[in-house]
Amino acid sequence: MNLSIRIETTGGPEVMQLVETPLPAPGPGEIQLRHEAIGLNFIDVYHRSGLYRVPLPGGLGSEGAGVVTALGPGVAGFAVGDRIAYAGGPLGAYSERRNLPARHAVKLPPEIPAETAAAMMLKGMTAYYLLHLTFAVRPGHTILVHAAAGGVGSVLVPWARHLGARVIGTAGSADKARLARAAGCNEVILYREQDVAAAVKEFTSGQGVDVVYDSVGKDTFAGSLDSLRRRGLLVSFGNASGKVPPIEPVLLSDKGSLFLTRPKLADYVATREELTAAAAALFGAIAEGVVQATIGQRYPLREVAQAHADLEARRTTGTTLLTV
Ligand SMILES: NC(=O)c1ccc[n+]([C@@H]2O[C@H](COP(=O)([O-])OP(=O)(O)OC[C@H]3O[C@@H](n4cnc5c(N)ncnc54)[C@H](OP(=O)(O)O)[C@@H]3O)[C@@H](O)[C@H]2O)c1
Repeated sequence: MNLSIRIETTGGPEVMQLVETPLPAPGPGEIQLRHEAIGLNFIDVYHRSGLYRVPLPGGLGSEGAGVVTALGPGVAGFAVGDRIAYAGGPLGAYSERRNLPARHAVKLPPEIPAETAAAMMLKGMTAYYLLHLTFAVRPGHTILVHAAAGGVGSVLVPWARHLGARVIGTAGSADKARLARAAGCNEVILYREQDVAAAVKEFTSGQGVDVVYDSVGKDTFAGSLDSLRRRGLLVSFGNASGKVPPIEPVLLSDKGSLFLTRPKLADYVATREELTAAAAALFGAIAEGVVQATIGQRYPLREVAQAHADLEARRTTGTTLLTV
């Protein structure tokens, strides 16, 4: 038997039920794995709440690390006993054991612990593509990173500094501002108290930043546009405060011929080559000490409702693990 989290319907944290069910043998192209650690992500909240559509009834969770326990027909490149990690694929990471299409898994280098991988695969590959592919951050760039003390923020900030950028972060409290500075932010704006665009203009002699990484969405979108330099880029990659309402394209013209993109990880790791390149970049950055897992809190799988409540109430810092 296998413990996992299942939802019959979308809603609050209480819709997540711990169930014990048999786990079928892995199907064609699938590996079966035993989780050693599971990553919690804000996208799990969107899936649970219904902001993003999910198959129902079904499982939750997109990130984990563990050991391969069985191979389905036709799987090549993996063996029983391999240490693997993944970010994406069918939902179902909130479980002791699961089946996963092998194409979503990568083998873990021996020096990377399972907890580090579960904390960083999704957030770290996201930081990689945002800083290298969505916009190529270079020395001389000034960037704005919202929620800099959060899961993605705590990887994005040191990596951007390593690439030579000056990083302005935002944080929701003085304690989080301290963490954001420790992660590498040159400046931190307390965005629940301060006018973000005005503070950014002050830090940049009225110019604005080259790129804004905005995962907060509804509450920060307008201020993000107003923080950009002429022809700057707004990377709107999340909606922790709610979905951004529709805008007229001419607004981008009025505010200085701005660029706007709304990327997601799945489109940057869609092929096996893209996935292995992103994972290799992340593992390299971890090995070189450019980024590290800032595990702010751990919850047993059976306490996942509390983990979601804390993430949504902005009580978490860094990344969050579910333990099995
Ligand atoms: N598009 C992609 O490829 C991609 C991939 C990964 C993650 N994401 C997005 O990146 C964001 C961060 O994900 P994460 O898992 O690392 O979460 P997280 O940053 O650890 O948590 C979200 C943070 O957002 C801030 N926030 C601001 N307003 C909020 C509100 N009304 N409700 C809740 N939080 C609010 C909070 O920090 P403060 O207290 O400092 O304000 C909170 O801690 C999410 O929006 C996620 O969807 C996107």
